[in-house]
Amino acid sequence: METLTAIAKRASVREFSKQPIAQEKILSIVDAGRRAPTARGIQPWEFVVVQDKTKLAQLGRLCENAKFIKDAGCCIAVFCKDTKYYLEDGCAATENMLLAACDLGIASCWVAGDKKPYCQKIKSMLGAAEPLRLVSMIALGYARGGYPAHKKRSVTEVLHWEVF
Ligand SMILES: Cc1cc2nc3c(=O)[nH]c(=O)nc-3n(C[C@H](O)[C@H](O)[C@H](O)COP(=O)(O)O)c2cc1C
Repeated sequence: METLTAIAKRASVREFSKQPIAQEKILSIVDAGRRAPTARGIQPWEFVVVQDKTKLAQLGRLCENAKFIKDAGCCIAVFCKDTKYYLEDGCAATENMLLAACDLGIASCWVAGDKKPYCQKIKSMLGAAEPLRLVSMIALGYARGGYPAHKKRSVTEVLHWEVF
């Protein structure tokens, strides 16, 4: 898939079929994540892939805003060392992985990490030691019922040439 097509097609999907995701596809998605740009080239990240159904259900219970994780084929938790730009770096990796998943025909949803009260519990559950920050979680799976329609602001509304 062309990059711009993947960018246009990607949408948050929160309903997944039971079809499992092949290991090599998960590997390709994480590989896309670790290729993202980072401030000073530090690459502060660690990616924890959760496929175990019991753990997915536990994550779904912890994230009140993302109960659908329990039905995902897998969930990638994006941790970063507590560097100056950890949030930007972790978000760049997250977006790369959303786009890679889309390219591979796998639906996804970005789930909030940093700033959420459940961060500490998820860190303990996944054995992530201090001072790692949980930047995001990515729920992945095959879409059950397709991709929801986008409601995006138009380019003419958001684009300002030279000055706001
Ligand atoms: C930082 C961030 C945190 C998000 N957290 C959640 C979340 O916890 N639960 C959820 O269902 N969606 C979450 N989303 C997905 C957004 O709701 C979604 O991207 C937005 O509604 C736009 O829809 P789209 O992804 O289909 O373009 C998050 C997105 C971002 C960027």
